Amino acid sequence: MSNAELDVNRRKFIGSSMALVSSAAITGAGLVGCAQAQIRSTLVSSAQPGARRKLGQLEVSSVGLGVQNMARTYQTTVPARPEMIDIIRAAHDHGVTFFDTAEAYGPHECERILGEAIAPFRNKVVITSKFGWNIDPQTGERRPGLISRPDHVKQAVEGMLKRLRTDRIDLLYQHRVDPQVPIEDVAGAIKDLMAQGKVLHWGLSEMGLQTLRRAHAELPVTAVQSEYSMFWRGPEKEVLPLCQELGIGFVPWSPLGVGFLTGAIDQRTSFADGDFRKSETRFSPENREHNLALVSLVKSWALRKKTTPARIALAWLLAQKPWIVPIPGTTQMGHLLDNIGAREVAFDTDELQALNASLAAITIQGERLPPAVLAYSGVEAPLK
Ligand SMILES: NC(=O)c1ccc[n+]([C@@H]2O[C@H](COP(=O)([O-])OP(=O)(O)OC[C@H]3O[C@@H](n4cnc5c(N)ncnc54)[C@H](OP(=O)(O)O)[C@@H]3O)[C@@H](O)[C@H]2O)c1
Repeated sequence: MSNAELDVNRRKFIGSSMALVSSAAITGAGLVGCAQAQIRSTLVSSAQPGARRKLGQLEVSSVGLGVQNMARTYQTTVPARPEMIDIIRAAHDHGVTFFDTAEAYGPHECERILGEAIAPFRNKVVITSKFGWNIDPQTGERRPGLISRPDHVKQAVEGMLKRLRTDRIDLLYQHRVDPQVPIEDVAGAIKDLMAQGKVLHWGLSEMGLQTLRRAHAELPVTAVQSEYSMFWRGPEKEVLPLCQELGIGFVPWSPLGVGFLTGAIDQRTSFADGDFRKSETRFSPENREHNLALVSLVKSWALRKKTTPARIALAWLLAQKPWIVPIPGTTQMGHLLDNIGAREVAFDTDELQALNASLAAITIQGERLPPAVLAYSGVEAPLK
């Protein structure tokens, strides 16, 4: 059988199996009311092209896919690799063209999984990766701290290209600002990589505001990737206005509030040892009891719009700005299908006003990350 025939058969298999998987899996994953029929019709319509957005000059699908958990879910269980490959390919079959990974995920292993999955359609999708955590480029061993020295960045990219089975990274982010390296030097390394065609666009994640300004002045930045969702609205104050001013796209990470906004987590949920949500105070039993008011709100809107909580959470992000592109992460086919259906959910002006008013009445209690991790966010690079 030729590769083309294999591809057609795979797509047919995915098409029929996904309808089954989605209705079964989504039912258990927070589907509200009678939305099953709507999900099936979404599966048909979401296969159509469209639903594209622009991050700077880079065009991507309006909902992307984060693969961080595909090697290990929040440091606990190990998902089946063939299933992860199927999920990535199914995402592509359903119009997703924006795939997010990093050398730190695995480390290295998520890049390998993504590279294998997209190999048959590499030229039709946009892939991102990130450098910056101190990871041995050869072994993938995690070391303490950060490293964005220009020579290291270039070495890291060589490894990424091999693992992702490609000759270029479409969008390369600095994962966290290195307090030892001026951002101008980092931009210089990216410029060299761009001149060689190995990197096409660049971005920053969780950076300080002045660092973003300086980075953009040195080499135009395509996208910022920072945490943003109904569960953490920090970027609204300064980061989003700055992105708007500079014409930079925004990619919210943990757009589902690390699962909270899907309704999958309640007061009885206990996180496994090693799952970092166990050490986030926003999930502590007393704070969670309070914060579940947000989940109730999202569920009530899912009922009202005949859809799912996950789709409400993602559609709300999409409604904030036309240059926002969330990258929900999942290791389950049913959840993937649920999430990509968010692009079919729209709020009119009155609905958005009402939803925002209800959101404003809920104050989230607890921190989004443990203090030791939070310390890496909002950092300014040293002056050159
Ligand atoms: N730049 C950074 O520093 C940074 C940091 C964190 C993450 N990221 C990126 O952002 C991506 C997404 O973030 P994230 O994975 O941390 O958080 P997220 O997308 O907010 O939530 C993922 C969690 O929600 C669950 N989930 C997903 N869809 C669901 C659905 N429809 N119904 C019920 N549960 C659902 C997933 O479990 P299942 O696997 O069981 O579906 C997983 O536990 C990552 O993959 C990564 O690419 C970047």
